[in-house]
Amino acid sequence: MNVTDAIKSRRTYRAYKPDLIPDDELRELIDIARWSPSNTNTQPWHFAVVSGKPLRDLENELLKHIMSGGQQNPAFEPSSVPLKGVHKERQYDCANRYYGTMGIKREDKNARNMLALKNFQFFGAPHAAFLSMPADMNHTNSLDLGIFLQSFMLLLTERGMASCAQGALAMYPDPIFKVADIPEGNAIVCGISFGYADDTAKINETRMIRAKLEDVASFVS
Ligand SMILES: Cc1cc2nc3c(=O)[nH]c(=O)nc-3n(C[C@H](O)[C@H](O)[C@H](O)COP(=O)(O)O)c2cc1C
Repeated sequence: MNVTDAIKSRRTYRAYKPDLIPDDELRELIDIARWSPSNTNTQPWHFAVVSGKPLRDLENELLKHIMSGGQQNPAFEPSSVPLKGVHKERQYDCANRYYGTMGIKREDKNARNMLALKNFQFFGAPHAAFLSMPADMNHTNSLDLGIFLQSFMLLLTERGMASCAQGALAMYPDPIFKVADIPEGNAIVCGISFGYADDTAKINETRMIRAKLEDVASFVS
């Protein structure tokens, strides 16, 4: 598989087989992803992997925390300005495709909330990782973490594995810090669940589209 194939065939999977990725292969993938570029080579990323039983324990803790009224307290606040125009339309389209695959109507808030909770069950994946950087860094540095994340996702694709990047995993950091080995002073930017896709799961039939080239790029020559 070349880079073009990996970019075009990677997509988000939200149901997994229980099988663990062999430990040496997982370490190899992260070892390759660390060659991602970063601003002035700062490499601000830290990738804290949690697998198997500790991940299922974390899932239980997160669900308990959320169900008992734990409030969201992400280190990096999402924008307070609501999405507008074409970005709002794309967000709607994303939600409609996702809920549509699962036969959930937009007005069925309860079903949507239940689906959203799957984020904190790591969609049944055997592995999750939490991408963090020093808490006093900002959006400029988080760009580097995004590049690292894409490198890792493409490597998984190349090896026939699957992933779901998850901004949601930055929302309730407290239970995560108790389990994941995250450096002191770091804050979680986002997470990722990964493993081998369950190709029989309905949820994995979700397909997203992309804006046209002329809508996202311009050329002056
Ligand atoms: C930074 C980032 C955060 C994301 N957060 C979530 C999330 O919290 N939950 C989720 O189900 N999907 C999440 N996604 C997946 C996106 O919804 C998905 O990438 C997008 O709809 C395009 O679909 P595709 O990955 O199948 O091409 C996230 C993706 C990225 C890149």
